[in-house]
Formats: sequence, C-alpha cells, structure tokens
Amino acid sequence: MTIAVLSEMPSGAGELSVWPASTTPLPHGGLAVGGVPLTEIADRFDTPAYVLDEGEVRERCRSYRDAFPDADVLYAAKAFLSRAMVRWVQEEGLGLDVCSAGELELAVTAGFPPERIVLHGNAKSPRDLEAALRLGVGRIVIDSPSEIARIAAAVGPDGRQKVMVRVVPGVSAGGHDKIRTGTDDQKFGLSLTDGGAQHAVKRILGQPQLELTGLHCHIGSQITEVKPYLVALRRMVGLMARIRDTYGISLPELDMGGGHGIAYRPGEPVLDITALARRLRTELARGCAAAGLAVPRLAIEPGRAVAGPAAVALYRVLAVKHTGERVFVAVDGGMSDNPRPALYGVRYAPRLIGRAGAGAPCTATVVGRHCEAGDILAADVELPEDVRPGDLLAVPVAGAYQLSMASGYNLVGRPAVIAVHEGAARLLVRRETLEDFRSRDIGD
Ligand code: LLP
Repeated sequence: MTIAVLSEMPSGAGELSVWPASTTPLPHGGLAVGGVPLTEIADRFDTPAYVLDEGEVRERCRSYRDAFPDADVLYAAKAFLSRAMVRWVQEEGLGLDVCSAGELELAVTAGFPPERIVLHGNAKSPRDLEAALRLGVGRIVIDSPSEIARIAAAVGPDGRQKVMVRVVPGVSAGGHDKIRTGTDDQKFGLSLTDGGAQHAVKRILGQPQLELTGLHCHIGSQITEVKPYLVALRRMVGLMARIRDTYGISLPELDMGGGHGIAYRPGEPVLDITALARRLRTELARGCAAAGLAVPRLAIEPGRAVAGPAAVALYRVLAVKHTGERVFVAVDGGMSDNPRPALYGVRYAPRLIGRAGAGAPCTATVVGRHCEAGDILAADVELPEDVRPGDLLAVPVAGAYQLSMASGYNLVGRPAVIAVHEGAARLLVRRETLEDFRSRDIGD
C-alpha cells in the first residue's frame, strides 16, 4: 500500500476507457455491457462469469479489416476460442491462426473454412498434423527442421500442402520475458543468424509434397510500439530477397504474426493499429522496391487486441480480511480462471458493481480462492472502504489469455462465458460442474 500506487489509479471520465465501448453507467453503481446490466448477468448465470461483448469483438475485427484492407487478418485463436467467436470472426472476414488439433477441430466443426486457417506450433503432435491434413488446413507453419520430412511423408505422394517457415528475425519485443519470441534464445522458429531458416527453406523447396508460400515471424506479445515490427519486416524482406537470388523464386506471402499491445488499465499505452498498418505497408513497398522483389501479400495475427478488451470477468466477493497493513478482498475465482497476474505480473483495474460504495476508497488486494498465497488477481487497487462479502467485482480486459489458459486447480471449475449483444445475454460456454470432474475421472 503506497501513495505512488494510489496516484496511478484511474479516476474520472477515463475510468471506463478500457471497458467495451458499449459500457454504460447505471444508477447506484451499476454498469451495463452490451445493453445488459452486469448485476442481471450475475443473478441469471451466477459467478464467476466472463461476459463477452459480441459488438466489441465484431468492431475490433472491422477496425483491423479497415486498417489492413489488402492484408489477411488472422485471429489468433489461442487468445480465446468458442464456436460463437469462430462465427463472428468468420462473418467479419478474418482468417484464423490455430496451434493445436483441438483449436483446429473446434473451428472447422463450427463452420470455419479450413483453407483460411494457419496451423502453428513449435512441437506439433502426430494428432495435430493428422487433423491438419484431414481437415485441409490452409497453411502449416514449419517451426523445426524435423517437421519438413514428417509433413511431406504424411501428405503422401499425390498430395501437396502449403507451408510457411517461422523465422526468428532477431528482434526483442514484448510486454514480458515469457512472451518475447523474436530472438534466438527461446524455443520458437528457425534462426536467421545461424542459417537455420535458410536451411529449412532449401529443404522444403526440395520436397515436391510441400509448397512454400512464404515466411512467418511473431516477435512477441503485448508490444506497444511499431518500430520492432518494422525492423523485423526489413529482415524478413532481406531473407525473401536472398531466397529469390538463390532459387529464383519470389515468395508470395509474408506473415508478421500478432502481438499488438492493449491497455489493461486506463492510461496504459496501446499499439496504434492504423499507424502499424500504414508503416508496415510503406516499409514493405520500399524494401521490396529496393530489392527488386514483387510485394508479397501481408498477413497479421492479432489475438489479444481482438478478444482482450471485449470481455469482463465478473466475480462475487466471498470474504474480506484486514491483516495488519492490508485489506484482502477474496472472490469466487482466481488463478484458475486468470493466471496472468501470477505469470506475468500483469495489473488489472477491478471495480465494484451494483451499489455505490460508502466511505473513503481504500487500497485493497483482490485475491482468488485458490490454495496459495500467489493467487492474487489485483494488488493494491482502490475499492470502497465498505467492500463486503456478497458484493460483485468486475475486471475489464478479460477476454484474452484468461479462459484459454484456465486450469482445473482445486477443482473449482472453469467459469461460464456469456455473450451480450444489443440488450440480450446468452450462454456461450457453460460453467464446469462437479459432474464434469466426476465423469472424466474413470479409474478407481
Ligand atoms: N501468432 C503467433 C504465432 C503467436 O504465438 C501468438 C501469441 C499470436 C499470433 C497472437 O499474439 P497476440 O496478438 O495475442 O499478442 N499468454 C500470454 C500471451 C502469449 C502469446 C502467445 N502467442 C499473455 O497472457 O500475455
């Protein structure tokens, strides 16, 4: 509890800046998202609940399409996937990036055209590759040398699979060490500096079952500046030019991955998507002209920036404890539905919902209900002094990498996902129940 932390706290009109655009204040401390009061959602669907604003997802997809009219925008399913999400993304004209047979099957069985899907993964299992070939995935992004022969063999003598190569361009960017993937000291991709990428290209070109459509890179996640993307793009264009010089082919596609940073709390920096689009386009045109290369079709893979700001996590307060200097506000979820604070030290801005708090604001730490002290959702946040059991707390920017990283810890069960749109709420993913735990556990 420090004054410095307090002075960082949001206040005034900016307070709702990280909430879905549809969010409206209601009397007595209420908030509606997508036209539905959050208190009504808690009453009808119970808590914890993740409230996903369909309009916000669609609007974010449209902003990408508007900013990148000549590029393929692939939604990175790892941020959050459900059948409804698949449909919205498809209807808004995006493609999809998946990284497992599970994500791929869910998307295709929900009706997503497989040719508009790209499969990633640093270690693809036989099941992943089997699903990719069976379902006719559009591109497989090769991430290690051993995949080349494996995919070629699995395709069989009469087939042909489009592939890309994931290149490590040697650019360090991203909001945390664990999500920086652009340099050689991490597990993803094939290196530009040690020649791994060049060697993979050569071997792929020697496989008649594989059609190399282009290069891919993903330098990291939660990046808030354009510059690292430009540096990476220059290096990728350089490699494309060397491939043209060596093999006489101009690769038609360049996928620059995702990683576009968003604000979790008011005032935090955000990647400017319009600036990114403009400067990538300009740099690509300039680099290709200088190298005498045909301009490849650009692809990008945003996950967090599409799903993150579109959802709000809704919790019920179960206990409030005053210990020495601290006030702990314990809710009915925690690190099993949101491991991000524990993993990356991310800070959130929870808010009391459904009643106007009385008394002066106090500095509190919102914790989960799991059996470890590190189960903290939001440290040192401002809440009304009279916060008490039964209150509702909502945490904005909950749409990406929370439920998709949710665990079964303590058999608390994963929360329900509720879509809100134009005043109506509907259940998308049901809450995990005791019966689910029992039915999976078939030994004795
Ligand atoms: N493309 C590839 C190949 C990726 O690996 C990722 C994210 C993306 C696209 C989408 O990145 P985004 O636009 O969502 O930043 N669990 C971490 C983030 C891990 C990102 C993994 N890869 C977190 O909660 O911050």
